Formats: sequence, C-alpha cells, structure tokens
Amino acid sequence: MVSSIVPAMPAFDANGTPYSPHYGDIYHSAESGPGQARHVFLGGNGLPQRWAGTNVFTIVETGFGLGLNFLETWQAWRADPARPQRLHFVSVEKHPFTRAGLAVLHAAYPEFAPLAAELQNAWPLPLPGLHRLHFEDGSVTLSVYFADVADALPKLRLAADAFFLDGFAPTAIPACGSRR
Ligand SMILES: C[S@@+](CC[C@H](N)C(=O)[O-])C[C@H]1O[C@@H](n2cnc3c(N)ncnc32)[C@H](O)[C@@H]1O
Repeated sequence: MVSSIVPAMPAFDANGTPYSPHYGDIYHSAESGPGQARHVFLGGNGLPQRWAGTNVFTIVETGFGLGLNFLETWQAWRADPARPQRLHFVSVEKHPFTRAGLAVLHAAYPEFAPLAAELQNAWPLPLPGLHRLHFEDGSVTLSVYFADVADALPKLRLAADAFFLDGFAPTAIPACGSRR
C-alpha cells in the first residue's frame, strides 16, 4: 500500500541545529553538518579517492533530510579532476522537507548556495515514490524516494558502491542505521 507523505517542517534546537520534533533528534552534529558529511560519510567511505577514474559511482543513502550529504558529495565531485563520469545518488526519505522548507534550512550553509539553489529549483512535490532529478547536464543524478526505507529498499534494483546510513538515533529508526 502507498501511504501519503507527511512533510517535515524546519525546526531548530536551542543551539540552532536543525531538529526534528517528530523524532526528537537533531539532523546533524551540533559542530557542523557539512563537516559531518565530509568526515563521516565521504571520508568513512574512502571518498573521493575510491571513485577516481570510475565511469559510474552509485551511493545509496537512508534519510535525505536537508540534503547536506548530497550537496557535499556533489561539491566534491565537481572539485575532483578524477571524478566519475556519472554520479548517481539514491536517497530514501519518509518525511521530506518542502522546497520552501529546504530554502529556509539551506540559508545556514552559504558554502552550498549555488548547488542548494539548483536542488531547491528541481525539488519535487511531496508525493510518494521515486523522483529523479538531473544536474550537470545529466552527469549527476539524484534519485530521491519518498517512502519508508522498509518499503523502498527492497524495491531498488541497483549496484551500490557506497552506503550512507544516516538515520537518527537507532532507537528512533532502527531500520535506517545511524551515525552515532
Ligand atoms: C539524520 S537525518 C538525515 C540527514 C541527511 N542525510 C542530510 O544530509 O541532511 C535522518 C532522516 O531520516 C529520515 N527518516 C526517519 N525514519 C525514516 C524511515 N523509516 N524511512 C525513511 N526515512 C526516514 C528522517 O525524516 C530524517 O530526514
């Protein structure tokens, strides 16, 4: 059965870190969202070194959230002369922000401003299912699946080169894995 999607609304904790009242957890470490994306997710997967010279590199993420992992990955791809010809980033999100919500949240990360604006412009309505967004003349694809991971992951047919397991605390969403 396909359930309708309930979008997330931007909210912040006392330190100004994006926070989910629904899950009772923050979206990224209090120190830095981009820093966490760089060190935990890219670095933890040996990226960008491990994608050097490949034709296609596919990353599967649980929990798109603000899209900081995607933006950091896209930025690293742009900066890397040995980047893969194609980058495919697949992410599953049960409670996506709306385009307006992303714009509010992304304002805190000026280092991503041009890419965040492109992402916001392409961002789909919160309708269930798979949405495919193309950037960089088709060299970068974001497949964002609005669904529960438990429903979406068994339906994906792909060969993943890296996983970004970025759920909230394991007690909140055991199915998504966690960085903490
Ligand atoms: C820590 S945040 C992800 C942060 C994100 N990767 C980023 O770069 O901004 C965890 C995300 O998992 C999503 N989530 C929680 N339970 C889920 C589930 N069962 N299926 C899919 N997404 C889920 C939440 O809505 C939230 O956006």
